[in-house]
Amino acid sequence: MTESWVDAAERIGADLHLEVAGPGGRRAALIRALREAVRSGRLAPGTRLPPYRSLAADLGVARNTVADAYAELVAEGWLTARQGSGTRVADRAEPVRHAVRTPGRAPVRARGPRHDLRQGTPDASEFPRAAWQASYRRALQQAPNEVFGPGDPAGRIELREALAEYLARARGVRTEPGRIVICSGFAHALRLLFGGGVLRGPLAVEAYGLGFHRELLAAAGVRTVPLPLDEDGARVDRLGRERAVLLTPAHQFPTGGPLHAARRAAVVDWARARGGVVLEDDYDGEFRYDRKPVGAVQGLDPERVVYIGSVSKSLSPALRLGWMVLPGPLVEEVLAVKGEREAWASVLDQLALADFLSSGSYDRHVRRMRQRYRGRRDRLVAALAAQAPHIEVTGVAAGLHAVLRLPPGTEPSTVKGAVWQGIALDGLSAFRHPETDTQAMAAIGAMGAMDGLVVGYATPPEHAYEAALEALCGVLPADHSA
Ligand SMILES: Cc1ncc(COP(=O)(O)O)c(C=O)c1O
Repeated sequence: MTESWVDAAERIGADLHLEVAGPGGRRAALIRALREAVRSGRLAPGTRLPPYRSLAADLGVARNTVADAYAELVAEGWLTARQGSGTRVADRAEPVRHAVRTPGRAPVRARGPRHDLRQGTPDASEFPRAAWQASYRRALQQAPNEVFGPGDPAGRIELREALAEYLARARGVRTEPGRIVICSGFAHALRLLFGGGVLRGPLAVEAYGLGFHRELLAAAGVRTVPLPLDEDGARVDRLGRERAVLLTPAHQFPTGGPLHAARRAAVVDWARARGGVVLEDDYDGEFRYDRKPVGAVQGLDPERVVYIGSVSKSLSPALRLGWMVLPGPLVEEVLAVKGEREAWASVLDQLALADFLSSGSYDRHVRRMRQRYRGRRDRLVAALAAQAPHIEVTGVAAGLHAVLRLPPGTEPSTVKGAVWQGIALDGLSAFRHPETDTQAMAAIGAMGAMDGLVVGYATPPEHAYEAALEALCGVLPADHSA
């Protein structure tokens, strides 16, 4: 029986389209096509090639033509032929890698900074590969066939059930699976809510926050209004005619404190009185060290608060998995915006996360990482106490980053010095809303123009952390008060 190329490809696990054309006859054309497939990486090292007979039948060439072509490429070192294991792509036949280029910009450097202290990402070397693999395998084994059909735009019920249980237990969220919509993270939630017209501006945001989110909102035509901040969090008494407010109540981003209990209640009262909505960004609520866990504001009034979370800090931002817990009337509206076909999160990843949560792996991972990050935080505080005691460090009771307060006017030169030393980090002013009236803020006792550094202590792998701390202490401004 003749085996077609497609059958052979399926059997050997390779799927390749070959253009056997051009000058010099079929043999030469086949050699060129195979060489190009190996060189470009379309045929990876170790890949087994189809038997002569099946490739010959598929391409409509003589069996000897294929045999000659393979022999030639073995002689050139592109392929290897071993008794019993057929013809394979040689291990050292590495594809040529092209530099990544963005039009108009210099090529992206393959190497990152020497010391990466940017906030935003967990330690990638600690991704729980084995536990995630086990959850993924179980999810795949147990998935009914309908999983591979069109999905529910709300997300898999298994994940929504697991999240309802977890969020109630760990974050004090009051919900049920029917109020949860799976999305690909916080940014996607903002796009769905505002880009899709479910909510409208103007939207009050904390005067210090993530510029990326402000830009995303601006692109959706939403005006953001800076809300003053002090050590008790956002000054919600300053809310005015906005229709919604976006807060990071468990751990203000990036300054680091929790929203005071009285303000938590006050913001919910504001939303009730005004018919407004509170958006709660619970981006790192699991990571708290030496203060009592701060539950979600959503628990105070599930009909007034949209609670949003993701695995970006707890597992990895690369997974693109997040969730919205919605007031009842908003569920259908969000689903209508999301659409039937574009669920935005792989169903298998959703099932794996459901298993990861319900098997206890998520809790174990968070507990382990909490210990680890607490250790990192302690080492940062100790290094500063020893080498730069004049620098105040704040916002360290929770989260994956700290704020180092700098003497007025020293932030730009310190950030520049850090860049020279190969340290990647952000100045605090980079997070300030561009429309913040710093003098007016200072006049009401709120944070005005502050100099500081936002130091992410989770990002470097363990072996690189000590050197990163050393380098950081080396670029801090000297103490001129002594
Ligand atoms: C303030 C803030 N909110 C939310 C997120 C999570 O964003 P996403 O879920 O889109 O990755 C981050 C970053 O991880 C963040 O810094």
